[in-house]
Amino acid sequence: MTDHDLVARLRRQRQGAIADHYLALDLEGQAALGADLATVDLKLLEQLVELSQIQATPPPSVIRAPSVVVKGGAKAADAYAQRLGEGMVSRGTVAAIMVAGGQGSRLGHNGPKGTFPATPVKAKPLFMVFAEKLLAANERYGVKIPWCIMTSEENHADTVAFFETHEYLGLPVDSVHFFTQGMLPAIKPNGDLVLKTPTALFRSPDGHGGTLLALRKCGLLAKLQAAGIEHLSYFQVDNPLVEVIDPVFLGHHALAQSEFSSKSVSKAGPDEKVGVFAVADGRLTVIEYSDLPEDLRNARDPRGALVYSAGSIAIHAISLEFVARITETGLDLPYHLARKKLAVVRNDGTEGTVDGIKFETFVFDALVHAEHPMVMEVARAEEFAPIKNATGQDSAASSKLLQSRLFASWIEATGQSVLRQPNGDPIVPIEIAATFADSAETLRRRKIARLNYSNPVYLGGK
Ligand code: UD1
Repeated sequence: MTDHDLVARLRRQRQGAIADHYLALDLEGQAALGADLATVDLKLLEQLVELSQIQATPPPSVIRAPSVVVKGGAKAADAYAQRLGEGMVSRGTVAAIMVAGGQGSRLGHNGPKGTFPATPVKAKPLFMVFAEKLLAANERYGVKIPWCIMTSEENHADTVAFFETHEYLGLPVDSVHFFTQGMLPAIKPNGDLVLKTPTALFRSPDGHGGTLLALRKCGLLAKLQAAGIEHLSYFQVDNPLVEVIDPVFLGHHALAQSEFSSKSVSKAGPDEKVGVFAVADGRLTVIEYSDLPEDLRNARDPRGALVYSAGSIAIHAISLEFVARITETGLDLPYHLARKKLAVVRNDGTEGTVDGIKFETFVFDALVHAEHPMVMEVARAEEFAPIKNATGQDSAASSKLLQSRLFASWIEATGQSVLRQPNGDPIVPIEIAATFADSAETLRRRKIARLNYSNPVYLGGK
């Protein structure tokens, strides 16, 4: 039956075009599209349309560079933090959380990004790299660290299928928890809703800001709290060098009584596409690279160093109590716009692309609500080799080289030399499984035999 109330509500929200399209459908089509439209939060939609009409968000009025703790900067403080962090993990108070709602489309990869082959010798998928790090941590600390994986509607089924086919990558099945982020409708520049099929709206994932609310909505937040979890170790699916469980970071996070801590690296240059940490209007924040005005991007201090040089590598330690507090009455994060060509069905039923606007929220926008937030600068070469692009910077090739370089440095730290090319890079790819050694120190204790560089070097058993 035609839902005339729905049509009236749509017209009141200036969504006349979709109302006309709905009325032109047969009853079966109306039932399908009507059910989809009924789930749209029309108030939020109005807010998003209004936002899309604003040309630019005004920059904060008072902005300065933040202070950062440097990992490795004070050995005694780090050693203390490490012991504290190790205690936190051993007591079972830390869970890992990974945002993996994106597809590998920028990489030309068909499937969830976590299934992308990432390592220099064995081409292990990203999911496997993180699983091995967790297996190593479980073994070291004698615990079963929960791993919460945020998927999106676009890749949930494929992600779960991957884990099932690969027997949860050796992890205890009950330690892996999938949950799905929300979706938001896309609009055209004039504010009209967009169709993906004649009877379904075009929606896209609500950004990793959706993580915190989705955690609560799916019940995982309560489950983690009941299990005694106090801190989340948060990372993105794209960085095979992430220290999934880093006791030094967790210890500093606890020492600072921080509710939301973050890792940074010194920006490679003004144009590197990373968000930067800044204190804006008195609160620590991340300004996304696309939102950082050119004068601030290029601002230098009297010694010539970039003022906004603390680049975010999207690794955070987040207190669970903070997540519970800020999601209690629904989390209010700002929406960011992405203007894109969308593959859609036009209202006349033909397929094509239209100029569209997608909306996203960012998890780091929750920072402004956090008490005592802390930023820790880490060595890029040790913790950051993201895979984002098909070629060039932040590609699989650049990441594999960075991984090989780090593993070469671990081998050298054992006292062995590594055969290198004239430019300093190892002559063959090198890979060390985290289950074999997850740091230079653990590799040293392994007492490995002398390596031969006639073939790629792989340390890790199978
Ligand atoms: C991101 C950060 C940037 C940081 C950089 C470090 C944002 C907006 N920017 O840039 O500040 O310097 O990483 O590498 O995050 N994701 C979801 N659901 C979504 C959207 C994204 O799970 O709805 C996940 C992706 O799977 C990915 C991560 O979030 O793991 C990053 O998203 P992406 O849009 O690729 O951000 P970047 O441009 O790489």
